[in-house]
Amino acid sequence: MAAKKQSKAAKKQTKTAAKKQLKSAKKQPKAVKKAVVKKQSRVAKKPAKKQVKVTKTETSKTVGGQYGYFDDANKEYVLRNPATPIKWCNYVGTLAFGGIVDTTGGTVLCKGDPALNRITKYISQMPCSDFKGSTIYIRIKDKDSVRILSPFVVPTCTMWDRWECRIGLSYTKWIAEGFGLKVAVTVFVPAKSSTLIQDISVENVSRKNMEIDVVPVYEFSHFDALKQLTNADWVPQTMTVEAHKEKSGHVILEQYAFMKKQYAVNYFTASQPADSFDGDRREFLGFNEITGWAAPATLYKGKLSNSTALRGDNIAAQLFKFKLAPKKIGRVATQLGQEESIAAAMPAIKKYRDLKNVDKAFADLADFWKNYLTALQVKTPDSSFNSMVNVHNPRQCHTTKNWSRYLSLYQLGFGSDRGIGYRDSSQDLLGVMSHMPEEARVLAENLLSVQLEGGNAMHQYFPSTMEANEGDSREKEDRPKYYGDDHLWIVLTVASYLKETGNMEFLKKEIPFYNKKKELEAREKGSVLEHLKRSLAFSWNDRGTHGIPHLGFADWNDTVNLPTGAESLFNASLFAKALLEMIDICEAIEDKELVEQYKNWYEEIKAQVNKTAWDGEWYVRWFDEKGEPLGSSKNTYNKIDSLGQSWPVISGIASAEYAKTALDSVNKLLNTENGIKLSWPGYNGFDPHVGGVSTYPPGAKENGGIFLHANPWVMIAETIIGNGDRAFQYYNQINPAAKNNGKISEFESEPYCYPQNILGSEHKQFGLARNAWLSGTSSWTYQAATQYILGIKATFKGLLVNPCIPKAWKEFSVSRKFRDAVYEISVKNPNGISKGVKSVTINGKAIEGNVLPILPGKKHIVEVVMG
Ligand code: GLC
Repeated sequence: MAAKKQSKAAKKQTKTAAKKQLKSAKKQPKAVKKAVVKKQSRVAKKPAKKQVKVTKTETSKTVGGQYGYFDDANKEYVLRNPATPIKWCNYVGTLAFGGIVDTTGGTVLCKGDPALNRITKYISQMPCSDFKGSTIYIRIKDKDSVRILSPFVVPTCTMWDRWECRIGLSYTKWIAEGFGLKVAVTVFVPAKSSTLIQDISVENVSRKNMEIDVVPVYEFSHFDALKQLTNADWVPQTMTVEAHKEKSGHVILEQYAFMKKQYAVNYFTASQPADSFDGDRREFLGFNEITGWAAPATLYKGKLSNSTALRGDNIAAQLFKFKLAPKKIGRVATQLGQEESIAAAMPAIKKYRDLKNVDKAFADLADFWKNYLTALQVKTPDSSFNSMVNVHNPRQCHTTKNWSRYLSLYQLGFGSDRGIGYRDSSQDLLGVMSHMPEEARVLAENLLSVQLEGGNAMHQYFPSTMEANEGDSREKEDRPKYYGDDHLWIVLTVASYLKETGNMEFLKKEIPFYNKKKELEAREKGSVLEHLKRSLAFSWNDRGTHGIPHLGFADWNDTVNLPTGAESLFNASLFAKALLEMIDICEAIEDKELVEQYKNWYEEIKAQVNKTAWDGEWYVRWFDEKGEPLGSSKNTYNKIDSLGQSWPVISGIASAEYAKTALDSVNKLLNTENGIKLSWPGYNGFDPHVGGVSTYPPGAKENGGIFLHANPWVMIAETIIGNGDRAFQYYNQINPAAKNNGKISEFESEPYCYPQNILGSEHKQFGLARNAWLSGTSSWTYQAATQYILGIKATFKGLLVNPCIPKAWKEFSVSRKFRDAVYEISVKNPNGISKGVKSVTINGKAIEGNVLPILPGKKHIVEVVMG
């Protein structure tokens, strides 16, 4: 009998899921039917051009794009169209426990290390319609029909009357209405917990009683994320799901790989007793999985199969039943977590079974973000700028601080080639320093602990083992085994921490140097100051024939890998900038000898760069092993490079004349309406002399693409020479929020975070963005906006106010927490200039200069007049 029923169901499922939805829509009462059919055609066709309804916030007046809109009041981006051009996503939790949630409900969840402790199975290369580690099914049973829906649209292809996905600060919330239901799902990780909550509510908005079943499902990955994909023999033999049925009717599904049974188990449970459950994917999908995730056969029966799993593809599915009269709401909160054992998980399980605690945890998360963002809030005449600077950019900085370049839908966190990047994280920390300096310090200490005794650093490390490696340089026999820039970034990071906090004691903290061959306890230790001194000494002693620091395997540009002996002009500028920071530090601790030494080094490097690297209209970027320039008008490809121009200005190496000429060349040869290209022209074929850069077609990534990370450096350089209009033009060109209005279809990537790259003008798909979220663009654009355009910057003496704004801005204001106080700074620009401060008052009293002194107490009113 059951088999007969099943084969009937199977037949049904051979029709496409979309057709099924349309058909069931036809059975609906008139009003619903109309809406469903309308929605069907709207989603199936092109993205709706119609402006979506927006709430009355400053940003929403100007931003109302094709896919969604910014709701600044709620600090959310509201997606109204599920068919985004590529997967758009959000981050939940932290690297300690958390991961990625995409807008169609897919979940990548990890604890501690994405490569070594992965929980859900998400294959990012699969189409968006695929099941990706998680979904929720909603089943509505009538006398004669079964309808299977998903609030995420995927994988059932449900066409709701109204659907939205609110991408919030560390949570995503879906609201789906149709079929007589209003379904809301909020996904988040409570602070400091190891559990992912799905808060699901279903409301009966029809006029009749309804029986609604809610079936959340997760699919597990082996903890070794890469093995899950490369080994189909050992992995499935080790995977296990057990079920614990409590007297109360609650079910805990316990999942583990056999060898972790004693110390790390995943669990899935909920606030509500389960009607039934499944732990085995084949049992859940039924029919040997032939009908797939779009229409699991089991859902066409009554109950789930109550399967556990002794091997194979492990899932956790539970079925919750709701009988709802009209207007009634049913709610269930699920928990997917990992602990040492189920016993160890019980306190958390009990806590979050109480919905009051779920609400409290969600409110706490909102408080965390409120507090975090309050550190720096701005009000300028540009609403997209405000939206990014007040919410989305600092939020992205928090994300890059957490995940470095380790886990995204592009950097897949399998551990083979990525971990926590030394240069990446050092820069990321600059973006969170005004918000969470002490957390930044902790990560900076980790980075310092993978610096070698000789002063250079390991390129990356894995957070759960603190094991470090040399990155890609390991793989190339004929190239240097170190990077020429890694160790210099940390000098900027430590200086930024010291200026933000004034905690000079940190310089004395003893931290080991990395030595693979020695146990941690046996490693040489040195104070933070000693670490910084060795960084600088390494570059000073590692100079080539032009007196310029060697390239190493690569500098910031990972993909130019010239043979041993090449020199990098970027490394020279970064070294010079690090020297300036170190001079500031040594002046603050009154070490005159060091100040003298570093000033000498600085002058020498500055002289060498200007003597050897000026090409006529711009600076060259490298000297190869034979001393030939690269990034010069003499070259066929790669004649000019953006870093070659921005960094001599940032480091103060370029004279006023060279600075202006070099930045004008960038404007003339590299700038486009979609951002500044990294270099021009792109290589057109593989060239083993330069390596990786020439593996891309011209216009892509480092090969003449708009590599966004390098854009804020040009913005900063333009503010240094007083060109506020151009700096802001460059800011706007890459502001993703500003793209939400029109260019989003060409851009394709999320409008609420910076991507790493946009295809450049040499590429046919000019304007197309990829690699969202984990990019140094976030930290540097935030610094460019707040410290250089608005010009509010921490120094040892106080808070510098030195704006460089578009001339058209008549005023702006900034609220900045600094040390113990909050400075409410309002800046007036009566004469329409870009740079220059005429007067400053604090609490009504005029001060000399434009550095706000370090003040005790709470709020200080600062009035600044430009002139
Ligand atoms: C990527 C890397 C970063 C590098 C940049 C340019 O963003 O994460 O370390 O500097 O590419 O090659």
